[in-house]
Amino acid sequence: MSDGIIFSPFKLKGFTLKNRIGVAPMTRMSSLRDSIPRQDVFDFLVRRAKNGAAIVYTEAIVTDYESAQGYPGQARLVTQRQIDAWRPVVRAIQKEGSMAIMQMFHCGRMAWPDINPANRVIAPSDIAPKQINPLTGEPYPVPDVMTQFDIDHVIFGFVETARGAIEAGFDGIEIHGAHGYLINNFLSSYANKRTDSYGGSVENRFRFAHEVIQAVKKVMPDDRLLTFRISNWGIADMEVSLFNTKTEYQEIIKTLSKEPIDAISVSTYGYKDNVFGTDRNMAQITREVTDLPLMICGQIYDRDSAEDALKHADIVLSAKSLLLNPEWVEDVRSGKQLPLYKSEEANVAYTDEPLP
Ligand SMILES: Cc1cc2nc3c(=O)[nH]c(=O)nc-3n(C[C@H](O)[C@H](O)[C@H](O)COP(=O)(O)O)c2cc1C
Repeated sequence: MSDGIIFSPFKLKGFTLKNRIGVAPMTRMSSLRDSIPRQDVFDFLVRRAKNGAAIVYTEAIVTDYESAQGYPGQARLVTQRQIDAWRPVVRAIQKEGSMAIMQMFHCGRMAWPDINPANRVIAPSDIAPKQINPLTGEPYPVPDVMTQFDIDHVIFGFVETARGAIEAGFDGIEIHGAHGYLINNFLSSYANKRTDSYGGSVENRFRFAHEVIQAVKKVMPDDRLLTFRISNWGIADMEVSLFNTKTEYQEIIKTLSKEPIDAISVSTYGYKDNVFGTDRNMAQITREVTDLPLMICGQIYDRDSAEDALKHADIVLSAKSLLLNPEWVEDVRSGKQLPLYKSEEANVAYTDEPLP
């Protein structure tokens, strides 16, 4: 089988990717009190690089010890021990000719106060997710409305974590603006009811993301990659569209494209799904308004779906397929028939059984 577009190189800033496939960020909840993932979780990432993925994303790393954490066992990257633990993993990924990118986030209104040392949950507005937190069996608490002090403090956490990633040798950093977490809370008129300069118009709702991006960019050497992940779905309150219209979403993408970022990563439930009542998918409507390199993710599970997704994007990311099949990249290369995994099957990510 010819290698096709999927296995053709792609120039991303100063990097030349060997193919168009990346391991999507995947939280594994394996860390103990030191906020360092288990060794087998590290090995898992390196194995995906060995199998040929051009990009390997980390799990979403939480940005502070105050209010950022949403799930038990999440990692941080702000202490020397944490940096020292990641450094050999990053090197091993790079030795395979792959890029290592650290994803970071603050959980915002999805945070679980009990597992944050400061026992707090903060968000742009005091609007709790409607559903029960599946991890606690309790409603999500109503968040404290973030003050300017909180905003500055949280931005500082993003910056410190970015500095940790640079120190650990990562090629790139991703700011997680998707899935209903803090940055996404600010972007969305559903979770953000502020009447100050951080709420209201798209420009105002984007202000927090802008400040995070600008602050992070300042501490990054010029040769590193900065990406931003966005979605129109959230972990909670799924029935609520996070952006109300195509116009609103595209306005956000246009605003985002003016920032000093190197790529946009769009996360979907299904890359193929038509959105906002149009006959176009998320990649298409994103591409209409940006020239930035585009990554797409969501039910890309075999050669055909990867090739199809690449019609409107530059890079495909896969989560469940790469979680459950360590040979996935090579299987895609050979055009092997592969399954579309169900969400429940991904729960193995959170057991302490090492995954192959
Ligand atoms: C176990 C697991 C953990 C995930 N953790 C993250 C995460 O930390 N950050 C993130 O942006 N997305 C996370 N996701 C979402 C995936 O990156 C991806 O967008 C989603 O699973 C759809 O892709 P897929 O159909 O290839 O699985 C996670 C998904 C799974 C299955």
